[in-house]
Amino acid sequence: MATRANRAGKPIIRRIGISTGGGDAPGLNAVIRAAVKSALNRGWEVVGIRRGFDGLFKPGMAKKLTAKDVAGILTMGGTILGTTNRGNPFEYRTRVGGKTVVKDMSGHVLQSVRKMGLDAIVCIGGDGTLQIARRLADMGVPVVGVPKTIDNDMPGTVVTFGYDTAVSTATDALDKLHSTAASHQRTMVVEVMGRYAGWIALNSGVAGGADVILIPEIPFDMDVVCKKIEDRYRRKRNFAIVVAAEGAMPAGGKMFTREHKDTGRQEVLLGGIAQWVAEEIQNRTGRETRSLVLGHLQRGGHPTTFDRLLGTRFGAAAIRLIADGGFGRMVCLRPPTIDSVSLEEVATGKPRTVPLDADTILSARQMGISFGDRVE
Ligand code: F6P
Repeated sequence: MATRANRAGKPIIRRIGISTGGGDAPGLNAVIRAAVKSALNRGWEVVGIRRGFDGLFKPGMAKKLTAKDVAGILTMGGTILGTTNRGNPFEYRTRVGGKTVVKDMSGHVLQSVRKMGLDAIVCIGGDGTLQIARRLADMGVPVVGVPKTIDNDMPGTVVTFGYDTAVSTATDALDKLHSTAASHQRTMVVEVMGRYAGWIALNSGVAGGADVILIPEIPFDMDVVCKKIEDRYRRKRNFAIVVAAEGAMPAGGKMFTREHKDTGRQEVLLGGIAQWVAEEIQNRTGRETRSLVLGHLQRGGHPTTFDRLLGTRFGAAAIRLIADGGFGRMVCLRPPTIDSVSLEEVATGKPRTVPLDADTILSARQMGISFGDRVE
């Protein structure tokens, strides 16, 4: 399906759709608001598609959005459109006669985009959502992508919105844990999100004064971790803070995964590392150790100023991208400007992980923070 173009070769746009897919992230509403306002100001109609790609083939899931619908949402967490991290139209899972059946619903998506008269769709999501958007673009659906994830692991952009808020939440938790850890002379092990990338752990760990930071990019050795903890107690710093990314793993070991009965979810759920590390520390050092998992708290709350601004810039830039006919592309941050990159290039399923020569890692090591590895 081709969007009609005017004499200048620019697409003729009357109506666009907006959808949010994957795990929610603070700043989603800022993107929606900016995109809706910018589109309405061009005289376009905007349709909000509910619950990710599900809303593109299930009836009654699309609703016209007005300026009133987006008033007051800039500071709100979550997404007014709802989302899901199970909705892949190419492998749609449904229950038939008590059994899970996988169906390809992409043809239905195409049909309903036509039926709704959408000249373009803004797909806001992380790697999973944008991979689906890329496949839809290959089928001729006029999509533009906006990168979202608290994990900050989306290639092609220096940072995603949602990440700054998640790091702030984790840092705030570390600040709070310092006083209880010190009062009880305990070691606290805090598990943060991030999937296969250690951005949240690294940056909250450094900003929150952690003693040990465990990230997926650097497999760790429990002997090294325990030695660092013992050193602290020997120096009469009678407590320690360990931040563990959910995807961190011991050298030669595996990532910690959680069993779940949620058959529709495409990806494995990570988790459990903090409890394991805490038990190892307590068993090996005899020091009282506790663990906690910050979990979905990191996805909630008001977006920080940074995320509101980035979300707003992304939302407005997505509309400019549509006006320029930049379908199959994703807006991205290349400081100081917002640019765009082809979805084919970035939505590949390969996460953007922390480079080992990142200056934050070097600075942390210089200050004595341990990553649980042996460094000469
Ligand atoms: O990708 C965002 C994220 O929050 C990850 O950090 C985490 O592993 C996962 O999603 C949790 O997914 P769910 O929402 O299914 O619990």
